[in-house]
Amino acid sequence: MLSGRAKRMLANAAIPPLFRQASFENFNTLPDNPVAHKRLQAAMSLAGSYAREFPYGTKQQGLLFIGDPGTGKTHLAVAVLKRLVARGFECLFFDYQNLLERLRSSYDQASGAAHREAYQSALDCDVLLLDDLGAHRVTDWVEDTITSLITHRYNHNKAVIATTNLRDPEAGDAPIPSGIAGDSSSRYYLTERIGSRARSRLFEMCRVISTRGVEDYRMRKGR
Ligand SMILES: Nc1ncnc2c1ncn2[C@@H]1O[C@H](COP(=O)(O)OP(=O)(O)OP(=O)(O)O)[C@@H](O)[C@H]1O
Ligand SMILES: [Mg+2]
Repeated sequence: MLSGRAKRMLANAAIPPLFRQASFENFNTLPDNPVAHKRLQAAMSLAGSYAREFPYGTKQQGLLFIGDPGTGKTHLAVAVLKRLVARGFECLFFDYQNLLERLRSSYDQASGAAHREAYQSALDCDVLLLDDLGAHRVTDWVEDTITSLITHRYNHNKAVIATTNLRDPEAGDAPIPSGIAGDSSSRYYLTERIGSRARSRLFEMCRVISTRGVEDYRMRKGR
């Protein structure tokens, strides 16, 4: 049973209802698929030791989950976040798009205070989980904003855990195949969506966990 304080801290982390149950215990490493199994086992083991050994002084305080849609990135990131909450760190889940929208709304005089406060906590908390980093279209404002958020956390040696399905050669991703179907952001490089400065800091700040090439768990469940 969680104590009152532990419950409060977990509620403060603002994990969306859909992911509240996500944990290491209910993560399936797909033993029937040797390629996926190897990747997922490595991913789970890295994520597990990260959560156990955090914090890391001044080096690579964060994690970057990178891979195709439905491969368990958010699930594992939340599993890590919950362990860190249980260890007493102040953690916060933010959907990337939602964070940008809140910041936009914070400029509004009448309704902006709560949004400003939310953005401030994204700057200041011990561990920020930025889910679906780089989703959607990029503008100069988006690029400047994400760069300044990441730079702030970098300068204050604060951890970022990010998930993305954008590609990056630094994470071992092959070049984008031509004619790739669908509307997936796997069609883009991370640098195209968040800019080269934010991208480069992120790699400096984070250990990389790749789930690229693993089958989509959402499809599997549907079978
Ligand atoms: N290996 C797994 N074991 C158990 N549940 C899983 C696994 N992979 C994914 N899931 C579940 O499948 C759903 C989709 O996974 P998740 O949201 O973590 O994928 P994602 O990689 O973050 O995808 P996207 O890039 O679309 O955000 C979630 O409900 C998650 O809990
Ligand atoms: Mg996700």
